[in-house]
Amino acid sequence: MTARHWRRRVEAGICWLTFDKADSSANTLSQETLAELEAELARPLEREARGVVFASAKTTGFILGADVKEFAALASAAQGAELAARGQRLLVRVGELGVPTVAAIDGFALGGGLELALACDYRVAADSYERTLGLPEVQLGIHPGFGGTVRSVRLLGAPLALDLMLTGRSLSPREALAAGLVDAVVARPDLAAAAAGFITRRPRPRRAPWHLRLLSAAPLRPLLGRAVGKSLRKRVRRAHYPAPYAILALWLRYGGHGAAAFRAEAVSIGELLITNTSRNLVRVFELRERLRNLAPKQAGVTRVHVIGGGTMGGDIAAWCALRGLTVTLQDRAQQYLEPALARARELFRKRLKGPGESEAALARLSVDLAATQVASADVVIEAIIENADAKRALFRDLESKLPQSALVATNTSSIRLEDLSAAFSHPERFVGLHFFNPVASLPLVEVISAATTSQGSLDKAMSFVSQIGKLPLPCRSAPGFVVNRILTPYMLEALRAHQDGYALETIDAAATAFGMPTGPIELADRVGLDVALHVAKILGGVLRAEPPQLLAEKVANGELGAKTGRGFYAYVDGRAVKRKDVPAPDDELGDRLLLPMINEAVACLDEGVVRDADLLDAGAVFGAGFAPFTGGPMNYARQRGYGEVADKLAVLAARYGTRFTPHEGWGKLRAAP
Ligand code: NAI
Repeated sequence: MTARHWRRRVEAGICWLTFDKADSSANTLSQETLAELEAELARPLEREARGVVFASAKTTGFILGADVKEFAALASAAQGAELAARGQRLLVRVGELGVPTVAAIDGFALGGGLELALACDYRVAADSYERTLGLPEVQLGIHPGFGGTVRSVRLLGAPLALDLMLTGRSLSPREALAAGLVDAVVARPDLAAAAAGFITRRPRPRRAPWHLRLLSAAPLRPLLGRAVGKSLRKRVRRAHYPAPYAILALWLRYGGHGAAAFRAEAVSIGELLITNTSRNLVRVFELRERLRNLAPKQAGVTRVHVIGGGTMGGDIAAWCALRGLTVTLQDRAQQYLEPALARARELFRKRLKGPGESEAALARLSVDLAATQVASADVVIEAIIENADAKRALFRDLESKLPQSALVATNTSSIRLEDLSAAFSHPERFVGLHFFNPVASLPLVEVISAATTSQGSLDKAMSFVSQIGKLPLPCRSAPGFVVNRILTPYMLEALRAHQDGYALETIDAAATAFGMPTGPIELADRVGLDVALHVAKILGGVLRAEPPQLLAEKVANGELGAKTGRGFYAYVDGRAVKRKDVPAPDDELGDRLLLPMINEAVACLDEGVVRDADLLDAGAVFGAGFAPFTGGPMNYARQRGYGEVADKLAVLAARYGTRFTPHEGWGKLRAAP
């Protein structure tokens, strides 16, 4: 068999096994690539080879983990367990080659990729400030399956190994060096020599120091286990996310000791792989990839001009500068920009750790009150106050100064694009780019096209959003687009439930019990009650219900939510003060809150606000935080049964009012094969 994915060469006494997955820009571990590696390792080692180095030929990293597309084909837990056991045997073979082994890691080493590295005697990484090394399996509803749950504990000790596996967070090469996950970090050109050096020198392979090993000894395990379990239960529910509980259970039982620990790992991942949670989280992973790849590949944007440097414009400008673009920021006067510039400095300081990187980002961001740089901008983003007249006046004045090719985007959250495009003599260049607050942490950007927007402008807007590392969701211009449209009925119903006598905390608990990251009351407080009221009014016609009086009263009192220290809750040090002695939610409350959101999702789909159900789910998960383990509202409705959900809406409509009436889109869903 000639190898398609692995290249083998022996040079200066070292056997290099270089992974270069055929027909793929990135290295992922599929059945085929693993089988080929198996064959390579079964071949007798060349006589002159004194060591083996695993490396990658890709610029996209070492190995990005398993090929998740293959998960769907697994029919049973036993099949999943067998697959894991086979991977484990392969990595055991790495340890039995009889010569020192090194992983030469340039870029991402994730999941199975890091597990291969863990099976080597030594790990050397090329320096970078990106977080590239990790075991993120938990984000797919599983855990490492090629011995990673065992080897990570042996190498790092339980506290760090559990932390990495339970959170799925990654480390930068330097952090990995400090943690003992890699043995050396070197400049990229020196990677091969450094890897070879380990084979020549053969230092004693690292393992966790004795005090950390002690923590995995049987008598001490329950101590750490209790603390880890307690913080886990605070974060996630076992019924929604069983994988982290399985990780903890494996360690508690085996402590990373013995062959039984490997066998148990394989059985456990087999069971997890066929859970709905894992299948839905894989779906979410694929939805993210879909959004990432929706945009046509285009020459990158280099210059962005942002008008209005308040909450949104300031943070959008900072984000673009962080991502390497040259950004100019315009407002009415310098004083309005000072808070934005201070936030930008803070963002760069936190996110850019390399020498001079933060200063360079700051240098890319400059104030341009007189709009002198508009003439050379590729993209202009408007984020001034939410007032159609003000925005139109701005656009009229702006257009004559723009280069022909420039794209103009508005960040409006509620004004119809059609009401603004009239200000342009070339409305085909005009789109909406709806960022969410806070810009730095929310990944989604709704890319809104009006009837007048050209395909070229839409393409450019989509690729711009991808270029700055956000997920673009193409939407048709319609009130509330997708995210606000589906979130608003959820928040408003929460307020009505409160008016009906439910405690605020009970309402939020019903939503988090469903799997939402934040309950609707706290969410409204965090969005800002003034903003929520404004959006609710805009959506009034669509939602067939007026916003509850309670909301207007809060706004009139100046209690606007977290930003004023008081909304429905009081906020101390940024945290909502919640009572504990409240009744638990009843069975119906969750449906009462969540089904209006799903009903609205069906309406959006039926009206063509987004193209298909998958895009809708992507918007809901990445923009509205819809419980990821469900795979999104449309997937949830499909799994629960379209008929059952629509019938339940009808029951709620009879009880509470027509705002629950199932949208006619349900009929089509039920009728579809
Ligand atoms: P903001 O009030 O914080 O900032 C607006 C800024 O625009 C101010 O600094 C103001 O001085 C400046 N400005 C006003 N008129 C101007 C003009 N003619 N020329 C130059 N600068 C001018 O408002 P915010 O919250 O940043 O909102 C901006 C836009 O983003 C609005 O369209 C809003 O609907 C939208 N949006 C807001 C979100 C939020 O959570 N705040 C979320 C998503 C969109």
